[in-house]
Order: sequence, then structure tokens, then C-alpha cells
Amino acid sequence: MLNIALPKGRLGEKVYDMFEAAGYECPSIREKNRKLIFENTEKQVRYFWVKPSDVAIYVERGAADIGVAGKDILLEYSPDVYELLDLDIGKCRMCVAAPKACDPDGINNLRVASKFVNIASDYYTSMGRDIDIIKLNGSVELAPILGLSDVIVDIVETGTTLKENDLEVKTTILPISARLIANRSSFRFHTREIDTLTEKMREQVEKNDQNP
Ligand code: PRP
Repeated sequence: MLNIALPKGRLGEKVYDMFEAAGYECPSIREKNRKLIFENTEKQVRYFWVKPSDVAIYVERGAADIGVAGKDILLEYSPDVYELLDLDIGKCRMCVAAPKACDPDGINNLRVASKFVNIASDYYTSMGRDIDIIKLNGSVELAPILGLSDVIVDIVETGTTLKENDLEVKTTILPISARLIANRSSFRFHTREIDTLTEKMREQVEKNDQNP
């Protein structure tokens, strides 16, 4: 039985659609209830819904054999897992954003608020800039509006949150998408099953590419 950690929410539903189309269906997961674990013994799969930012922890520690996590989480926390495939969904970008009037290049010891402090620090280190990093856990857009920071480093998907808060993208740091990941020892013990699953998922990525 392969244990598969799915990210709860809209992305997770898209991810499950791909697993289902790839031949790893588990019909009970479609039932409307608050259950978190679903299995299909015939297909030898057990799915569970976890908070998106926790998927990599379940996989790293072997509670899940495989899972789907955003590249943002993989870069921020560097979990010790195999990254098997870019699923090409959940696409967004990691950006520096600030109020329109702000010129981040002109500020010394820039104050940067972010949920992604490692990504933000690595980015500014690569630019040779010293920054004052401020770790937040959500609603990061508030920070420059209330004067807590000069800029934010955050995920931009549609751009609506920035626009509605009078902020704009100053720089795009990285493109982000969902990745299929595997626990290292699960991969060693179930190489054939995980390779087969990865190839079937790759076919789904190609299909989605042809019919976006
Ligand atoms: C993310 C991100 C932005 C928003 C971007 O927040 O931190 O706030 O989505 O999406 P958009 O460009 O489509 O508007 P999330 O929904 O994860 O909530 P959070 O603020 O609690 O982190």
C-alpha cells in the first residue's frame, strides 16, 4: 500500500484528479465528509489530506511514501526528500512587492516581511544586500501598509491581493509549481511502484499541457 499525502484545498483536488486519471482512483475521497484518510485496497493506495505546508514533513519522516508539495515549501524548508516530478499545476511566483511609491533599491538595511524567510534571505544574500528580515505567518501584505516593513517577499498567483491593497510586484524571484515528492527509503523499497506512478503522472502532465 502506498501512502500518499495530498495538500488540502483547491490544489489538492486538482492533484487528486491527476492521480485518479493516472489510474490510482479512490472513489470514497469524493464523498462529502470530514474524513482525512481514504484507501482503495484494490489499487493499493491510501490518501490523506494534510495542510499543504505539512506535506513535506509527512513525506520526509516516512508517514507518507509520496506527496505533493509546492516548490516554495521545498525551497523554504529543504526537506530531505526526492523531488520526482513537476506537476505543472498550482503555478504562481515568489515576488518582492511593495507600495507603488517605494523604491526598494534606494533603501539601506531594507526591512523585508515574509512567511518565507529563508527564500527571502537567500535572495538578498545573492544580491549582496543586508536586510532586516521579519517573519510573519500570514496576511503579509499588511506589513508595508502599516509601516512594519518596506517590502514583502510573498507568493503572487492572480495578483488580486496585491492590487486590492495598493501594492505592486517589484521583482519576480522564482516561478513556483506543485512537485511530486517521495520519502528516500520508501523510494528505495518501492522503486518499481513509485517509478510506475511517476511515469503515469508524467503522462497526465503532458495531457494537461496539450489541453490546458
Ligand atoms: C497567498 C499569498 C497571498 C495570496 C496571493 O496567501 O500569501 O496573500 O495568496 O494570491 P493572489 O495573487 O491570487 O491574490 P494565502 O491565501 O495562502 O493566505 P495567508 O495570507 O494566510 O498566507
